[in-house]
Amino acid sequence: MRYALIGCGRIAPQHLPFALESGFDVVALCDLDDGAIDTLLTTTGLTGLQVQRFCDYRQMVEQCAPDVVAVTTDSGSHSEIALHCLGRGISVLVEKPMALSIEDADKMIAVAEEQGVLLGVCQQNRLNDATLLVKEALDRGSFGTLSHVSVEVRWWRDASYYEQAPWRGTWEKDGGALMNQCIHGLDLMRLFAGAEIREVSGLIANRLHPYLEVEDLGVGFVRFADGVVGTFEGTTNLYEKNLEERITLIGEQGTVVLGGEAAQEIEVWHFKDPEAMALLEHFNPAPTDSVYGNSHRRVYHRFKEALESERPLELDGHCGRGALELVLAIYKSHLEGGPVALPLDSFSTRQMHL
Ligand SMILES: NC(=O)c1ccc[n+]([C@@H]2O[C@H](COP(=O)([O-])OP(=O)(O)OC[C@H]3O[C@@H](n4cnc5c(N)ncnc54)[C@H](O)[C@@H]3O)[C@@H](O)[C@H]2O)c1
Repeated sequence: MRYALIGCGRIAPQHLPFALESGFDVVALCDLDDGAIDTLLTTTGLTGLQVQRFCDYRQMVEQCAPDVVAVTTDSGSHSEIALHCLGRGISVLVEKPMALSIEDADKMIAVAEEQGVLLGVCQQNRLNDATLLVKEALDRGSFGTLSHVSVEVRWWRDASYYEQAPWRGTWEKDGGALMNQCIHGLDLMRLFAGAEIREVSGLIANRLHPYLEVEDLGVGFVRFADGVVGTFEGTTNLYEKNLEERITLIGEQGTVVLGGEAAQEIEVWHFKDPEAMALLEHFNPAPTDSVYGNSHRRVYHRFKEALESERPLELDGHCGRGALELVLAIYKSHLEGGPVALPLDSFSTRQMHL
């Protein structure tokens, strides 16, 4: 299966090696900046890889006819590139956020369905060991009635981070702390508390990054359809280093706290059900020193399996839309000064201001 990577920047080393490992035939690398392709090949130890190189993705698609592309460019260009490829019958694995508007996300889902190709979204934290264990306990019913789920993302990003590329920290091409950094935590809230949401209230602010137009802090309250409540606090305002990503689930017969830097560790695992308690014995995650975690590997293996076996893809366009919708609902609530009912039919970061 012919594979091409579009966007060879910081996240690309989490893609190229796993594309090869999962058995894709990597035929092309594309970046506006040819030097980024060299850096990617060097940092991944793949300088000997025989691939064609392009700076124009349209030309690459025409000349190389890939079956699959990964889109790892800036967030503002995901939908345009993905739609171009999906419309030509190419399956797409796109980085989070899948798009910056609900309209674009819906178009991407519709075109993938029309063309009968796969649309995958890299919300890899759904496949972390800690996430999978919590999901298993939830599916067993071990929490009893779930009361609420809280998500706290307390990270650090300073000027040097935003200066890496002009797209960062803009409404046009990125969004702020919620869209870029906290979307994984909000995605897990939706995975754990239930996909169906009735209403979202939120507030965002820029407290410590005066040179940015977007938020560096956001809080939110989520009312899920079955009564579960979600609370959220996310920020990039920590002094000097990331502190934590903490997700707490409180149920009538169980309490779980995921913590560490990126909710990959289990800090509390406490259940009435002895079989749920015993699940923890199987928890032996591979160590990681990155907030990206190790799960891009699983994203690739599952994407390949879904392409080959028609096994349903979990991290699909609907999953991507769900996380995007939750971020956009907090933004919209801030803009309108009140609760926002879901589902959202339309909204974009491009409508935002603080
Ligand atoms: N899943 C995760 O945990 C995770 C982590 C980091 C970044 N990301 C996402 O990955 C995306 C990229 O982030 P990054 O940190 O690698 O950014 P980056 O700026 O380091 O890299 C983006 C690359 O895309 C290239 N590019 C832009 N437009 C292009 C085009 N039209 N054609 C070809 N190349 C083009 C740029 O030249 C650049 O090299 C973002 O959407 C970000 O949110 C996801």
